[in-house]
Amino acid sequence: MAGQQQWLGDIALSHFRSHKLLNQPLDGRPVAIFGPNGAGKTNILEAVSLLSPGRGLRRATADDLSRKPEALGWKVSATLNSPHRTHEIAMRAEAGASRVVTIDEKTAPQVALGRIAQILWLVPAMDRLWIEGAGERRRFLDRITLSFQPNHAEAVLSYDKAMRERNRLLKDHVRDAHWYLALEGQMAKSGAEIHRNRIDALSLLAKAQSNAKTAFPAADLTLIEGEENIGFDEASLREVLANNRPNDLRAGRTLVGPHRSDVAALFAAKGIDARQCSTGEQKALLISLILSNARALATLNDAPPIILLDEVAAHLDDNRRAALYDEITAIGAQAFMTGTGVELFAEMKGRAQALYVSESGGLSETKEVDL
Ligand SMILES: Nc1ncnc2c1ncn2[C@@H]1O[C@H](COP(=O)(O)OP(=O)(O)O)[C@@H](O)[C@H]1O
Ligand SMILES: [Mg+2]
Repeated sequence: MAGQQQWLGDIALSHFRSHKLLNQPLDGRPVAIFGPNGAGKTNILEAVSLLSPGRGLRRATADDLSRKPEALGWKVSATLNSPHRTHEIAMRAEAGASRVVTIDEKTAPQVALGRIAQILWLVPAMDRLWIEGAGERRRFLDRITLSFQPNHAEAVLSYDKAMRERNRLLKDHVRDAHWYLALEGQMAKSGAEIHRNRIDALSLLAKAQSNAKTAFPAADLTLIEGEENIGFDEASLREVLANNRPNDLRAGRTLVGPHRSDVAALFAAKGIDARQCSTGEQKALLISLILSNARALATLNDAPPIILLDEVAAHLDDNRRAALYDEITAIGAQAFMTGTGVELFAEMKGRAQALYVSESGGLSETKEVDL
């Protein structure tokens, strides 16, 4: 199939949640996954999401992923094709141990996955994104940012590590400035990088939205840096952290910095904040953002990312659903999409592979069928 694409040539699961063994060849077209509730559809998407940095689309622990009752550990592996290379990538965990990533059979840090594949997702838990806490929105923004800038993962890790150490000092009521300087220096450096990456990502996204022919409503995203009117460049951050030490000592944690940023969305055509939009509109905004992210990546990397759309089709009317399929086809992405009924994917006939997933006695079974 299309050479200019990132796509999985196969996916293999071993003792992963309800899947004892799955070995599915893929041809690069979108993949329609259907079957009853609890069959193991989302589990397949979750497995694919683990082939990118982080804890996957449910943010599960390694133990949660291990097939019960055996709890022997698990493995997800895939052949990843991108325009110029092919890699064998895998993530696994032995029972009770943490995850191990391998790329071409060599152990690699998780962040290395972000350099060879971009995987975007939309799952039902994100339906409440605009009305829930800032943490989820920040994570959403950081996944978009990571897709554009693989180094973002390291910046976040190094910022978080320094902040944890600073928070320990604060909790222990350490007042001596010299304990703080190196940590705050690290936070300022990584924090400024995090901030720049986020701003760049938002501008790439905005550009992709303004150029797109799409049936989905554009969302204007703005980064919210916190109540204080402070700059997030390295020098300002260093100063802000030092100045805020007395407050932070009282709170026992760091109260300012990019770990507190939030993102607001505006339904652009109506000028209405996403929080005030209907549930259906909020979903449409998210689909729009995922598609824009994919379009921007296709331009930037000459290859669209892999997209995971969990239970998206069921929530769209016939027109919007047809539009979604046409847009995915136009982007050329290998989109893994789930839904309960095969009829949800009728429009994709000839344009997608179809997998029927069923479950009996706690074991998922997958077979390839015609749409
Ligand atoms: N670690 C595990 N071991 C065995 N089964 C699991 C594990 N985690 C989840 N499951 C089972 O997987 C099923 C849910 O699969 P999921 O992919 O979410 O279903 P759906 O097809 O509705 O998307 C449930 O039946 C659940 O009990
Ligand atoms: Mg599901």
